[in-house]
Amino acid sequence: MIEVELNQEELLKEFEDKIANEVKIEPRDWMPDEYRNHLIRQISQHAHSEVIGMQPEGNWISRAPSLRSKKILLAKIQDEGGHGLYLYGAAETLGVSRDQFINWLHEGKAKYASVFNYPSLNWADVGAIGWLVDGAAITNQVSLQRTSYGPYARAMVRICKEESFHQRQGYEIMWKMMEGTEDQKRMAQDALNRWWWPALMMFGPHDSESPNTGNAVKWKIKRESNDRLREKFINKTIPQAELIGLKIPDPNLKQIGEEQYAHGDIDWKEFWDVINGNGPCNQQRLEHHIQAHQDGAWVRECANAYHTKSK
Ligand SMILES: [Fe+2]
Ligand SMILES: [Fe+2]
Repeated sequence: MIEVELNQEELLKEFEDKIANEVKIEPRDWMPDEYRNHLIRQISQHAHSEVIGMQPEGNWISRAPSLRSKKILLAKIQDEGGHGLYLYGAAETLGVSRDQFINWLHEGKAKYASVFNYPSLNWADVGAIGWLVDGAAITNQVSLQRTSYGPYARAMVRICKEESFHQRQGYEIMWKMMEGTEDQKRMAQDALNRWWWPALMMFGPHDSESPNTGNAVKWKIKRESNDRLREKFINKTIPQAELIGLKIPDPNLKQIGEEQYAHGDIDWKEFWDVINGNGPCNQQRLEHHIQAHQDGAWVRECANAYHTKSK
């Protein structure tokens, strides 16, 4: 077979044809620099979110109200660590090492989902996080199963299976509390009041103000817009709240169709404040990650020594 060198234009055409025909882009395929850079940023940000997201819930493992709930929470948090691993693995196929991703996080150059910069104050928060934060994450991740980059899409298929269990474990906690004492009901409502808006913010700015949407949509990295995903999440979550007697903390919420709602204004100033490092727990989350990474240095050394010896 005669190898023909393609020029940039032909390579781009071949790439765009694959995208148009829903053929996945794989690590060894040619891809435009902007496509690669967008994915490096998005997948590593996603991986960091999974791992930093272990902290607010990890805070409650030792205080879970029963052995059953402790086992479930432990399994859920362990899953999140696994999600981080699949995603770092997918991101590494783009030519950046995991050490580099971690350094960028520790230097404050990489972001993670800002929702994890809010504190988990009591057990009801563990319920609200699973129900709302994992519920919002799964809405986004179901759509990402069809993303155009193969390793990312495949990681999402596996992650989604586990996320639906996470969403249910959170909802079960809220359900139980709403069947409990008046104090427990108040706690559940209070947790919903505090987590509802940060969960809606997880989908990012409105489509009209989302700077990265253009190429990401064109190249099918992103399959649905921020506002469309937010709407889907709201439409499925409101009936769940009503079923157990919880009230959505939005005085301007309006039903506009069967299982279709329009929400009130989101406080974007708060969103940008938290993204820019001024949320209630930004510093604590990062410091904890750096400390855990340093404490784990000996594990990496042992693994490397074993790896070198066994070669
Ligand atoms: Fe996850
Ligand atoms: Fe999860």
